[in-house]
Amino acid sequence: MTEQAYRCWLQYETILNKQEEAHYWSYVQTISLQKETLIGQAIKRELNLAVESMFGKTSTWQEDAQLVLTTVADKARLRKHGINQEEIAELNEEGYIIKEKDNQLIVVGASEKGLLYGVFHLLRLISQKQSLTDLTIQDAPQNQIRMLNQWDNIDGSIERGYSGQSIFYSNGTVTTDEKRLTDYARLLASVGINAISINNVNVWKEETHLISERYLTDVQRLEEIFQSYGVTVYLSINFASPIELGHLDTADPLDAGVQQWWKEKVAEIYSYMPRFGGFVVKADSEHRPGPFTYERDHADGANLLADALSPYNGMVIWRCFVYNCMQDWRDRKTDRARAAYDHFVPLDGRFRDNVVLQIKNGPMDFQVREPVSPLFGALQQTNQLLEFQITQEYLGQQKDLCYLVPMWKEVLQFDTKVQGEGSTVQSIVNGSLYQAKISGIAAVANSGDEQSWTGHTLAQANLFGYGRLTWNADLTAEEILHEWIVLTFGHEEKLKRVLSEMLLASWSIYENYTTPLGIGWMVNPNHHYGVNVDGYEYSRWGTYHFADREGLGVDRTRESGTAFVDQYAKENADRFNALDQCPDDLLLFFHHVPYTHRLKNGKTVIQHYYDSHFEGVTDVEWLISEWQSLKSLIDPYRYKNVAERLQLQLSNAREWRDQVNTYFLRKSGIPDADGRKMYE
Ligand code: GCU
Repeated sequence: MTEQAYRCWLQYETILNKQEEAHYWSYVQTISLQKETLIGQAIKRELNLAVESMFGKTSTWQEDAQLVLTTVADKARLRKHGINQEEIAELNEEGYIIKEKDNQLIVVGASEKGLLYGVFHLLRLISQKQSLTDLTIQDAPQNQIRMLNQWDNIDGSIERGYSGQSIFYSNGTVTTDEKRLTDYARLLASVGINAISINNVNVWKEETHLISERYLTDVQRLEEIFQSYGVTVYLSINFASPIELGHLDTADPLDAGVQQWWKEKVAEIYSYMPRFGGFVVKADSEHRPGPFTYERDHADGANLLADALSPYNGMVIWRCFVYNCMQDWRDRKTDRARAAYDHFVPLDGRFRDNVVLQIKNGPMDFQVREPVSPLFGALQQTNQLLEFQITQEYLGQQKDLCYLVPMWKEVLQFDTKVQGEGSTVQSIVNGSLYQAKISGIAAVANSGDEQSWTGHTLAQANLFGYGRLTWNADLTAEEILHEWIVLTFGHEEKLKRVLSEMLLASWSIYENYTTPLGIGWMVNPNHHYGVNVDGYEYSRWGTYHFADREGLGVDRTRESGTAFVDQYAKENADRFNALDQCPDDLLLFFHHVPYTHRLKNGKTVIQHYYDSHFEGVTDVEWLISEWQSLKSLIDPYRYKNVAERLQLQLSNAREWRDQVNTYFLRKSGIPDADGRKMYE
């Protein structure tokens, strides 16, 4: 039975307790819904499915009902239910109110989308067995764009995908499995995700044609599915499309022919999809074409597309992942961490209103720990999206357990200090700090066509958590996790306790047996799973640890290093720059230190490295025994799925421990103070 794995957090488990059943049924036995639009139909489908599954019977849809679903437009009904205009006025257009009085329940959306989110909230409350009596909820998302980036290719492969093949494409065609896509759209809408780009940021030859007649009818079919769940569809495009599709001899953004070509192309796309979101662009990055070829800059490139899209309210999401990927490792002056800031800060203020820059959370590339990208705070007159990676490229590839919400929270809470205390990343991405017109969060999806969607069943928590956190960044990692556990696995106390301990510990466990103290990398080149300490040391990617017989770390200080620290506001720059103030967990990101350097916990760096690698493995053994203790409480498919992956994680952790410890023992000649088994 794999159904539970497939349903994720939308289990809609049968309510067995008679009293509870009576309480909830009294509300859902009759339901009224005004409009039968696309979203309205989705709402109805969801409620029918949930009610059928939880109660084994069906609701009656009628004008006078116990559960009233409506929007702000329906003033008469609001009056009838005693909801005043002030309550509504406080909501943004995706918000909603849920109110219970005298055994009647009303859900009011500020828009139809708001109503959809309100209905999912109500279903969450029921699934969590929360009482509905006297309920008053007013809720709205804090971040405007809450997006997923699929890195799916038309041949069905997924760049950095660890859960089977694409659910969007197979063998060179767009999928016809609309059931699966509809279920994906339901999952996304249920946690408030409202945008999706449906192809890889690396737009290869065939994918370049997604914006042409060859594919637009198929893309439109998918777009309609997502649109009916309030999810706006975007496409990643190839900057050289005018050459590859239009047969022009240039893609120069300042060329009139190129500008005309994009105008016509965009008009064509919108003739298929009037609510199309716009383009995601990876340009001049890792060999993708871009404006540099024509000696133009990224503002020229982005504005070209923005002008074509603006008559349709379309958006250009332009990625800042631009750096020299052909670096000579002998060159100690170039620092990849500096690149995004150096490229984009000089362009601040030059982008059109409908351009949003998409910035990875850290200055390198989704490592287990990085400082926040200094672009946050430095860009003040440009729309910005924060980019997370849900797919666990460098974080165990959904074989190893790693609950990511605590990491994301740290990023959002980071105080850039650019406008004094409280200039957090969250205040930038929610648009409040700089009054941005467009802002929000995007993340690389971790989904694929395996039964569990995410390969590792527990990696579902990251997809769920991403949605919940981007909706409400004030939720704690624990709150999100508790919700997810109950919705996914039920109410058993032991289950709640053990699972939450496992997941909350998992990021630091992974960090311990891989690359603690902020150094990152040390992975196998290309596929990025498993240890290879020098795997990237003499490569062209700008990703070095500089270990020698005395010490390790990257000197990014202003006195002797690359001065990357000075891309931060002064207070943060000074803190990272000073060896005694730099947080230990980022020490090696900013400083090259001797192995004998003492951390704030009194240990030397080398001893800390040995200890954390031994601990990491012991902790994975603990994860295994904790999981085993849940066997009787979990269905066999999901139990086995996780149990198997935990064994893979254990082998991985052991390999990391032994290679890293041996490597540093050989380099430094300093033995483990506790004399544990090492391989000289
Ligand atoms: C990483 C990743 C690539 C990806 C790139 C990006 O480098 O390994 O697969 O294309 O990020 O974000 O564009």
